Amino acid sequence: MNKLKPTQVIGIASGKGGVGKTTVSVNLAVALQMMGERVMLLDADLGLANAQIALGCQCPYNLSHFLSGQKTLEEITVTSRAGVRLVPGASGMHEMAALSGLQAASIVQAFSALDDDIDYLIVDMAAGISPAVLAFMQACPRRFIVVRDDPSSIADAYGTIKVLLQDFGVDEIYLIPNAMGGQQEGHQLYERINQVCARFLGQSIGYLGTVENDELILSALKKYQSVLEYAPGSGGSRDFRRLAEATRQLPPIAHASGGLQFFVERLVGQSKAESRTH
Ligand SMILES: Nc1ncnc2c1ncn2[C@@H]1O[C@H](COP(=O)(O)OP(=O)(O)O)[C@@H](O)[C@H]1O
Ligand SMILES: [Mg+2]
Repeated sequence: MNKLKPTQVIGIASGKGGVGKTTVSVNLAVALQMMGERVMLLDADLGLANAQIALGCQCPYNLSHFLSGQKTLEEITVTSRAGVRLVPGASGMHEMAALSGLQAASIVQAFSALDDDIDYLIVDMAAGISPAVLAFMQACPRRFIVVRDDPSSIADAYGTIKVLLQDFGVDEIYLIPNAMGGQQEGHQLYERINQVCARFLGQSIGYLGTVENDELILSALKKYQSVLEYAPGSGGSRDFRRLAEATRQLPPIAHASGGLQFFVERLVGQSKAESRTH
């Protein structure tokens, strides 16, 4: 049975590490889930403060067990208290490039089978703009770039946007200013970066809202919880609910083959094309 709306796949990157990719991925996932959406989070970030810690999940297996054929996608997936389904990435990400045709086909099939069960797939990227990050970002039909108001974060966010727009020819990019002093400051930061994009890259980027600096976000992480569970009345929770609302307002991206299948086919297809050229 076909859903009217295929799974919406959103990649979250920032260039620089420590900017808030995992925080935004996890809290956006929880906020959407609390609004009745069915959300899956793919952890492609191998950092220390990763998604499983932020969601309070224990993950005995990860994507590498699935890629090696030891476990099914279902067996590696864990469900958080809030109901978000988490696919732990770990070292499996690097193996994407070395897949056989049969493995690639089985991944596409496994993810495609989930298409009717998932409204949003959120992909938490690793830091930097390695070929793997760019391949994931290109495969995601919708992309959010997290940025903080500091020169190196701004430079890295712009660098990421530039490569995606110019070298990968993607269209939809939204900026999420994080840890800002207020909504207005966040919007001003967006305007500044968007002006540079329009002028030097000839393309505008979108804005979905700002996440303010909120120390309860860090307190929540220390308790292995999203801020929405830990402190629902906090400013951070309010901002993530707004972000989730803005995300739901975006026109759904439709693909003939369904959102998840499209995503995985692009990802695996690219890796195969890349490994052929090496
Ligand atoms: N809006 C915010 N207010 C306060 N602290 C934040 C905010 N966003 C992120 N942090 C904190 O910053 C640190 C880095 O965030 P994280 O999401 O792990 O970054 P990344 O995934 O980009 O490396 C974490 O300790 C997190 O709790
Ligand atoms: Mg992270």
